[in-house]
Amino acid sequence: MKTKDRPEWLDDALFYEIYPQSFMDSNNDGIGDIQGIIKKLDYIKDLGCNAIWLNPCFESPFYDAGYDVTDYYKVAKRYGSNEDLKQLFDQVHKRNMHIILDLVPGHTSVEHEWFKESMKAERNIYTDRYVWTDKVWEPISGYEAIRGYSERNGAAIVNFFSHQPALNYGYYKVRKSWQQPMDAEGPKETLKEMMKIMKFWLDMGCDGFRVDMAGSLVKNDKEGQGNIKLWQQVRSFLIKEYPEAVMISEWGEPDKSLKGGFHMDFLLHFGPSHYNDLFRCKNPYFSSKGKGNCKKFVRKYVENYEKTNKKGLICIPSGNHDMVRLSKNLGKDQQKLAFAFLLSMPGAPFIYYGDEIGMEYNEELPSKEGAYERTGSRTPMQWDDSKNAGFSEADKSMLYLPVNKSAKKVNVKSSLKDPDSLINEIKKLIKLRKKHEALLNNGNIEFINAAYPLCYERYSREESITVVINPADKEESIKVKKGEIIYSLGKGAMIKDGKCTINGKSAVFIKNES
Ligand code: GLC
Ligand code: CA
Repeated sequence: MKTKDRPEWLDDALFYEIYPQSFMDSNNDGIGDIQGIIKKLDYIKDLGCNAIWLNPCFESPFYDAGYDVTDYYKVAKRYGSNEDLKQLFDQVHKRNMHIILDLVPGHTSVEHEWFKESMKAERNIYTDRYVWTDKVWEPISGYEAIRGYSERNGAAIVNFFSHQPALNYGYYKVRKSWQQPMDAEGPKETLKEMMKIMKFWLDMGCDGFRVDMAGSLVKNDKEGQGNIKLWQQVRSFLIKEYPEAVMISEWGEPDKSLKGGFHMDFLLHFGPSHYNDLFRCKNPYFSSKGKGNCKKFVRKYVENYEKTNKKGLICIPSGNHDMVRLSKNLGKDQQKLAFAFLLSMPGAPFIYYGDEIGMEYNEELPSKEGAYERTGSRTPMQWDDSKNAGFSEADKSMLYLPVNKSAKKVNVKSSLKDPDSLINEIKKLIKLRKKHEALLNNGNIEFINAAYPLCYERYSREESITVVINPADKEESIKVKKGEIIYSLGKGAMIKDGKCTINGKSAVFIKNES
C-alpha cells in the first residue's frame, strides 16, 4: 500500500506547457491541433520532459483563448475531437509520460448554455449556477458585473473579462440576501458538475489538472478558508476514485493551496511571491548587470517552504502564456543561468513551449483572442527554417499568429545541432537533475546566500549538492563545503580552501563530500 500523500509520478515530473493553437498544425489550417502535438511527443520526451500541461482545448468562442468555455465535455473543433484527445492520452502514456488538462472552474463563457438558461427570468436548474444579485441595479463591491443583458432582473458577477461570468460556489461570509452560503443547493450543484467534468476526462485517461484561478471560486473569502474547504472536498473525491490524479493550482499562495489538497502550486507573475524579481522587472536578478535583488523572493519561498512542511511543492515556471517570455529581459547566457536555477529547484519544473530555444517575445502584435500584451508570448513554435518555421503548411495569412522573424535562426532544428545552444544546456541540466536524488522534486533546500552569487544546498538522505549561480558580470566568492564540481556553466569556478570563486555569468553544482 502506498502511504505517500501524492501520486508517485510527481516525484520526478518535469512539465512542458503546450499552448495548443501555436504548437504544431497537422492539417494545415494555420492553427495548432492535437494530432500536431502527437507528432511532437518524441521531441518533448527527448528534451527530457516527462509530463505535459495542455492549455484549454475545449469548445469556446475564444474571447480569452479558450479560458471561456462553452462545453467542458467537448474538444474544440479546431483542435480535433474527443477521440483525438484520447489518442493523445494513449500516446503520452505509451511513452511513459503524463498529461494534465487545464480546468477552468471559476467561470464560463457568456455563450455557455448554462449561462443562457441562467439569464432567463423563469426559474430553472441553472438559475443558481452563477452568482447573481437580485436586482440589476445592485452595486457589488470588488467585482464587475454583467448588467442589462438578461431577461432576469439581476446582475451576474464576472471573474475575469466581462464575458466570463463567475460560477456560483457560494460565499464564505454571506453579507447580502442574494449571496448564497457554500452549502446552499446551487453552489453544491456547481461543484458536483465540476467533479463530473473531472471524472469525464480522468476516465478517458487524463492524469490530472492545472486549475485556473483556483483560489477565486468561493467569494468573500479573504483568508482563503472557503476555497480551501472547497478544494478539500475535491481532494477527498479524487483520493477515493483517482488516487493517481495530480492537481496543480494557479493560486500563487502555496500555503493555502496545499492545505486545500493541491499537490503543487505555481508561483506567478502576480501575487506575493516576488517571482518577477528574478526574470521580469526593471533589474531582474538574473540580468548580468548584477543590480537585481532576490532576497524578497527567497524570503517568501522559504516562508512557504516551511509552512508546507518542507515539501517543496512549489512550481517555478520558466514562463507561461500570460507573461512576457524569459528572453525579453535576459540574453542567451542569462537564460542558461536562469535554467540552471529553475532546473535545480525543488517542486516540478515547468518549461513553457519555445523557452527552451529562447523564443522571443513579439512586442508588435495586435491582440489575438483576448491576449493583449500576452499575444507576443503565444506565437507559433519555431521548429526549423522551412515555411512558417515548420509549424504549418498553410498560407502565411492563415496562421493563428505570425511566426517570429527570428525563426530562420532561432529554431529547434538548428539549436539541436549547436553544442552551445540553450536547448542543449537544458538537456544537460535535466539529465543531471534526474541522476541526482538531491536535485529532484522532493529534495530539500537550504539557502546559503541570496545576493550575488545565489547559493543553496539541495540534499536528500543520500547526498548533498551545493548550487552556486552568479548571473552578474563580475567575479564573486562564497564559502562552500568540500566537494567536487559536477556541473559547470560559463567560465565556472575555482574552489580552494573552502572558498568558491565563481566567474561572472557562471554557475557550478558541487557534490559535497559526505
Ligand atoms: C488564468 C489564465 C489566463 C486567463 C485567466 C482567466 O490566469 O492563465 O490565461 O486569461 O485565468 O481564465
Ligand atoms: Ca490545424
